[in-house]
Amino acid sequence: MTAKIIDGKGLAAKLRSDLGVNVSEFQASSGVQPHLAAVLVGEDPASAVYVRNKQRACEKTGINSTLHRLSKETTQDELLELITSLNNNASVNGILVQLPLPAHIDETTVLDAVAPLKDVDCFHPENVGLMVQGRPRYLPCTPAGCQRLIAEAGVETSGAHAVIVGRSEIVGKPMAMMLVQKGDVANATITVAHSRTKDLTEITRQADILIAAIGRPEMITAEMIKPGACVIDVGINRVGDKLVGDVAYEAALEVAGAITPVPGGVGPMTIAMLLENTLTAAKLQAQK
Ligand code: GUN
Repeated sequence: MTAKIIDGKGLAAKLRSDLGVNVSEFQASSGVQPHLAAVLVGEDPASAVYVRNKQRACEKTGINSTLHRLSKETTQDELLELITSLNNNASVNGILVQLPLPAHIDETTVLDAVAPLKDVDCFHPENVGLMVQGRPRYLPCTPAGCQRLIAEAGVETSGAHAVIVGRSEIVGKPMAMMLVQKGDVANATITVAHSRTKDLTEITRQADILIAAIGRPEMITAEMIKPGACVIDVGINRVGDKLVGDVAYEAALEVAGAITPVPGGVGPMTIAMLLENTLTAAKLQAQK
């Protein structure tokens, strides 16, 4: 068997093109151009690339984007001051603080300081709470992108066993909450596995849908995949000069029913979801 390759790059391009139309319609009727403010602290090269990709995607979609680049010596108070000024700036609809932050800055304190209506990453506890209760204001970008990819693959989630490997606040935990909800591309039975899980292979082999979000290159091997499963690879790991996912892709192709590639799978979808959230944010703020 050779798995169907789920084309995240292609789907994200289509979503961006549809979104571009929605952005111009919103702008024509409200006079507001949606605006994303990105905050990048320090010189992590991967973060700089991610932020640049997010900004380029904004430009292509008609969303205004500004970058606030701060040195790695920036204090937490200075960063909090910037966030307060962006919160108070009516022309800014969405605020994205690129993670990770330098070690001397407390991530939770900073993310909690973002105004919930401008929290297009869906990291603020108010937005996480709304999402968990099944009445989301925003959906977290990477899990939302994974959900759209599962839908794109035509995989039935209702009653399916979804195994998520990784329990991060950004991917694993919210992914579990979204797939267990009542609703479309949901109603799944969920297992969240992590670094302390015993007999991981026994668990992953039960997965109709396997989501790898561990951040360890090619940790999910072909033997860990149930034949015919839908495999969503969230990992982006640099090995030498190559980018690889958390799944050993070539061997997994022979076992899985459908699989996302790295690059070109989840990554572009995360960005597309961020753009959708930014338009939603502009709409919510225009209502106020
Ligand atoms: N760093 C890695 N993933 C993300 C993300 O989705 N949002 C932000 N802000 N930083 C990240």
